[in-house]
This record gives sequence, structure tokens and C-alpha cells, in this order.
Amino acid sequence: MITCVDDLRQLARRRVPRMFYDYVDAGAYTEATYRANERDLAHLTFVQRVGIDISDRKTNGTILGQPVTMPLALAPTGLTGMQHADGEILAARAAERFGVPFTLSSMSICSIEDVAQATRSPFWFQLYVMKDRAFIERLVARAHAAGCTALVVTVDLQVQGQRHKDILNGLSTPPKPTLRNLINLATKPRWCWGMANTRRRTFGNIVGHVAGTDDVSSLAGWVSQQFDQTLSWKDVLWLRGLWDRKLVVKGVMTPDDAQAAIDHGADAVIVSNHGGRQLDGTHSSVSALPAVVARISTQAEVHIDGGIRSGQDLLRVKALGAHAAYIGRPFLYGLGAMGEAGVRRCLEIIHRELDITMALCGVTDIGDVDPSILTGGRNPFQQAVTP
Ligand code: GLV
Repeated sequence: MITCVDDLRQLARRRVPRMFYDYVDAGAYTEATYRANERDLAHLTFVQRVGIDISDRKTNGTILGQPVTMPLALAPTGLTGMQHADGEILAARAAERFGVPFTLSSMSICSIEDVAQATRSPFWFQLYVMKDRAFIERLVARAHAAGCTALVVTVDLQVQGQRHKDILNGLSTPPKPTLRNLINLATKPRWCWGMANTRRRTFGNIVGHVAGTDDVSSLAGWVSQQFDQTLSWKDVLWLRGLWDRKLVVKGVMTPDDAQAAIDHGADAVIVSNHGGRQLDGTHSSVSALPAVVARISTQAEVHIDGGIRSGQDLLRVKALGAHAAYIGRPFLYGLGAMGEAGVRRCLEIIHRELDITMALCGVTDIGDVDPSILTGGRNPFQQAVTP
């Protein structure tokens, strides 16, 4: 019986090969920031209100001008097609049917063209800036040709935070036929059956399009050999010149960086510490949100990711002024557990939790949510975080 996102996580843990489950359910180094993202959200308490007609409720709105069923998008996540065969296609379809945006990662297994072919609504494309700028120009042009309506540029992963489990598991795409992997795969028949029936088993956007990587099956190898550590705001301006649709900068944690993103052409920013997967020991993304909202929300949309596991968490960040939020791990758990139906289930669970919690806080329109529904009001983290 699936009642919440954690039920999907437990099922995914049983069905997905160890190295890919661990890839998702991990943070960098001590995982302190990974835990802080969830913990700081859970500490935000709601104010219960009664005596209000709550019979007619509305959770829909827009993100970047696009109509959505609720203010949530699927985050770009690497190796999604290793949680389940053809994972990006399945997740994009579930998002399309539910009415929320899907963001395809540069490090996806299904390619931009695969996802475009399998869906009708436009999706968004996440970009990692690599050294080969001619390749980046081609990649951006491919996303444009596929009808992507937003380009999400990730700025916090030019070097990779170490996740111990990936090293211990020998993470690779597809898995290498070692004895340890074969023993683990033998316990995952559904996953193996899916993979045996798809041709999509490596990084679909980049393998064959870029030269000069020793081991094309290794995410860490791509990052260390191809990702461009010179990335600066000048490059965001360069991308602004290449892309005439919405441009989103993902990975800002301070008001100054958010302002710089806007000044260099971004239409929105994502407050993010990469789900605790990059700079371990930094504060949670939700604690960084109020100061960023205070600085830039009149100029651009402020989005957030990190730690959102429920509709209650979505309502918490809405109350603190986020225009929208993203989920990564929750939809991956759904995907690993039950494929497209699992992603749909994840979205349904979050939507229902959002709706019920709004009602119990006495709010009938998600557009009217404000800090008064939280104990502590506008910035419950004032003491904890110096912007
Ligand atoms: C890549 O985006 C990762 O977090 O592994």
C-alpha cells in the first residue's frame, strides 16, 4: 500500500539495483546538508485556522508563464533512465499528464530527441556547461529544435562533491559485469527485464557527440574531464545570447548570487544546494530562501529545490515566498518503484497533501499563501543564516 513518498522510496530500494538507488539517496561527504534540507523544512510549523469556508480550493497557477496543476516541477536528475528503463520518457509522460513541467538533465539516459518524440507538451532542458563550447552550442540548438521552453543552467557542479557510496559501488552506466553487480542484479528481475528491452543504457545526449572522455560510462569521469571550471557569469550572458526562451539559473544560495544571475539575463533562479550533493556543510536551501526572496522576487521568479518530500513541504516553501519548487528524489523513488505509474502516484500524493494542508490552514487559493500560515512568519531562519 502506497500512502506517502517514503513508501515509494522503500519500494524503489527493493526494485532498483543498489548502485542506482544509492546514487539517488546520497549526499556529499557526511551528508549533513542532505539531512538539513529535509530537517529544516520539517521544523517549520503551520498555524491551524478554522471558521473559514474552504469548500472551493485552487492549487493551479503558472510557472514561467506555463499553466500548472500545482506550483511544482520535476527536477533535472542525472541517470534517471537507470532507475527504470526509459525513465526520462516515463517521467516526462507522467508530468505531462499531471500538468507539471519535466526538466531533462544533460546527463540523462534518454536523449532530448527521445523525450521530444514521446511527449506532446514542451519540456525544459538542464544544461551543464562543458569545455567544448561548440558542443554546448549544438546541445542548446537541439533543445531549441525539440521545442524546450526553458533552459535551466546549473552553476554549482563544475567540480563534483564526493558521494562515498558511488565510489564504493563503482557507479557506472550501464553497470559493469562484476560479480558483486551480477549478484545484486539477479535480485532485480523487473529492472533487468526493462533494461533488456531498451536500447537506452548510456548518456544519450553526450555519448557519441563529444570526444575525449576515457570512460564514457562514468559520471565522475565526464564531470572531471569535460565540465568547465572557468564557468562564470559571463557565460550566463553568453547563453542568454544563444537562447531566446526562458533562462533559469540553478544553484544560487545567496541574494548576491541571485541578483548576479538576474543581472546576467536569468528569468528565474533556483535556490539550491544540489540536494546536499555538492557543498556538504552548507546550510539548507529553505533557510537560504527568505533572503533571496526579499532581494529579487519583484524582479524574477524564485524557485527552490532540496528536501521537498510532501505537499506540506511544498506549502512551506510557498509560504516563504517561493514561486515554485522542484522534486528530484521523490519522483525518482516513484519511477524506481513503479515506472510511469509511480511518478504519477508521487504527484498525486503531493497534490493531495498540498490541498488538505492548505484547507487546514484556512487557505483556499495557493496564490494567496503567505508567511502568516507559518509560526515565525516571513523569515523563521533569521538568526540561523546571515545572508
Ligand atoms: C548530478 O547532477 C548529480 O547530482 O549527481
